[in-house]
Amino acid sequence: MGDASDMITAGKRDIDLTGEALPVLRTAVPGPESIAWLQRLEATECPGSTARRVLRDGRTRRPSILWSEALGSNVADVDGNIYVDLCAGFGVASIGHRHPAVVAAGKAQLDRLPHAMGDAFADVRRVMLMEALSRLTGMPRVMLVTSGSEAVEVAMKTAVLATGRHKIVAFRGAYHGLSIAPLAALGHQVEQRQGPFRAMLGGAVTLAPFGGALPDLSDVAAVLVEPVQGRGGMRAPPPGWLAGLRAAARSAGALVIHDEVYCGLGRTGSLFAGGAERDAAGKPLSPDLLCVGKALGGGFPIAACLGTDAAMAAWSSNAGALHTQTFLGNPIGCAMALASLDVITSEGLTARAADQGARWAEALVGVPGVRGVTGRGLMLGVVVDDAPTVTARMLQRGWLVLPCGEHSEAIGLTPPLTISSALLDGAVAALAECVG
Ligand SMILES: Cc1ncc(COP(=O)(O)O)c(C=O)c1O
Repeated sequence: MGDASDMITAGKRDIDLTGEALPVLRTAVPGPESIAWLQRLEATECPGSTARRVLRDGRTRRPSILWSEALGSNVADVDGNIYVDLCAGFGVASIGHRHPAVVAAGKAQLDRLPHAMGDAFADVRRVMLMEALSRLTGMPRVMLVTSGSEAVEVAMKTAVLATGRHKIVAFRGAYHGLSIAPLAALGHQVEQRQGPFRAMLGGAVTLAPFGGALPDLSDVAAVLVEPVQGRGGMRAPPPGWLAGLRAAARSAGALVIHDEVYCGLGRTGSLFAGGAERDAAGKPLSPDLLCVGKALGGGFPIAACLGTDAAMAAWSSNAGALHTQTFLGNPIGCAMALASLDVITSEGLTARAADQGARWAEALVGVPGVRGVTGRGLMLGVVVDDAPTVTARMLQRGWLVLPCGEHSEAIGLTPPLTISSALLDGAVAALAECVG
């Protein structure tokens, strides 16, 4: 056991987060407390879990910090430095960190029922969340899970059950998670991540060019696609491509899976990125299976695979649960997700992402040294030379960003959809200092 005083005092500094402050740095980055905690982290954590290495002189190979608290667009570290989180914690904090409505919902549920019993005994929050998701997406059937990877895995399993076929087409640049089924569909840093596990992956996935020509789909169970690619570089396909994919899959009897774990729930300026396109009947494009996660729980690990009746009916022919888990539909996660969905839909955040994103992209593309801006809404990639160095410089000025793309060729920007215009302008100025 750690020293109890650690747990109480860790990271407690005299900070008063407002949520939308420009960076306030009290120490060099990383500060001495961060370095001390990083050394302890490195001494106990499985090597490679946190992609940092602390050097003997205390500096980190890739500079890093330890978070202690967050609010809105701000994160504080254990040294009391305040940062602006332009990643929204991997896209999770779409409504800002620690949104009061989500916190209240989580606390109230914690006092009432923190855990139900998966596939044996559900609770009312699970029913309410599934109804809300179904209303929002137009997808009648929902399976709740705990991570985006698992949502994708459920979608892949559904396609196999529903079609009796086993092949999946995925796309270069794709990232669907790293557990075994989504790892097989990885199109991003493939050699490095699939290499040691190749024998476990089964060879059922073919990669096609994202936004390019499609392979023959006649014996394919599903086409798995991110309507806007995230970690592969914040890339949208050419207009009409997703609709063409839908039509080709339908005529071949293959299902379409939209992985909207990253790009969904308003981030790209439409509630679902796939829905920005129209099908042949002029309706917003709708897949057979839709995966959501990240922003769904407002900070709680919860995700979902939604589907049409036709696709999801395939599960019912089996006695007993073919896919379940101890924490299925955790009540705290469901309560927080309900609150989070309510904020996303009632506070106009999707339209805000479209407007702010368009304005921001225009400003970013004018920064000297920026070679282009990809993506849509508040899911942007800023193409620069040496994105890892730019990332490190941004951190040292109090701006949290991450590189993205196959060769880390861009800076990924996915801030909270609630972020203020002043912070977006500040980020442009900071980037201008860090590029080149
Ligand atoms: C598009 C997409 N799908 C799936 C995942 C996997 O989600 P998780 O990390 O919650 O398992 C991610 C994670 O970044 C993602 O970006």
